[in-house]
Amino acid sequence: MENTLKSQIDLKRLPKHIAIIMDGNGRWAKKQGKIRTFGHENGVKAVRDTTEACAELGIEYLTLYAFSTENWNRPKYEVNALMRLLVKTINAETKTLNKNNIRLQAIGDLDSLPKATREELQQAIDNTSSNTRMTLVLALSYSSKWEIMNAVKKLTEAVKKSEINPTDITEHSLEKHLCTAGMPDPELMIRTSGEHRISNFLLWQLAYAEFYFTETLWPDFSKQHLYEAILDYQNRERRFGKTSEQIK
Ligand code: IPE
Ligand code: IPE
Ligand code: MG
Repeated sequence: MENTLKSQIDLKRLPKHIAIIMDGNGRWAKKQGKIRTFGHENGVKAVRDTTEACAELGIEYLTLYAFSTENWNRPKYEVNALMRLLVKTINAETKTLNKNNIRLQAIGDLDSLPKATREELQQAIDNTSSNTRMTLVLALSYSSKWEIMNAVKKLTEAVKKSEINPTDITEHSLEKHLCTAGMPDPELMIRTSGEHRISNFLLWQLAYAEFYFTETLWPDFSKQHLYEAILDYQNRERRFGKTSEQIK
């Protein structure tokens, strides 16, 4: 089954960049009478499988929304558990990332992370920085409004220092100051767990992305689910404001 789905994918029309809102860990745990953090722990396998599947296909960038700015408002116990899980997972997976030639990067307000998490993350980023097969981007303490506001601040400073003239500001000038500077915009955005919202994720970068929603809860998300999402994406006509006739 898995192979037949995979074999239907047109490797010449792959998205360069896939972004995923990994949602539903808490509900997954609750369904089996366990505490929410059990769901987070069981979401790690889905991260591993999805990363591997993307690398095998030849996807260049995979961005995973792991922790939002708003998630700081969760109970302290859960926030601490998530931070610990991050350190543990990053530490355990760095070897595999290197073996698979995958580079790790992170976007978000990384300064707000606890010291141990920040250091572990930075180490993994440095240790994998020369890998070339795929870039795995973790969105951590990330929110898009924060990111855009920050970019505006930096642009304003550049104007103040006369490094740029306000009339010369383009979309590209702002993009240079986003956390995703230098990355292509995601063509495909997947959200699991049946929620149909964007939750402050990549508002600028997803301007023309195709959205794919699945009822599957994140810990159940497998390579096969990823193949289904990519096939769905490949069956769409991306018009970018033009007419269907102009595209053909
Ligand atoms: C996603 O699962 C993981 C994080 C936001 C860290 P949730 O924890 O949001 O799970 P649900 O949505 O409550 O089921
Ligand atoms: C979005 O999921 C953030 C992550 C997946 C890390 P949430 O579960 O926090 O989003 P809302 O609150 O349901 O919109
Ligand atoms: Mg959720």
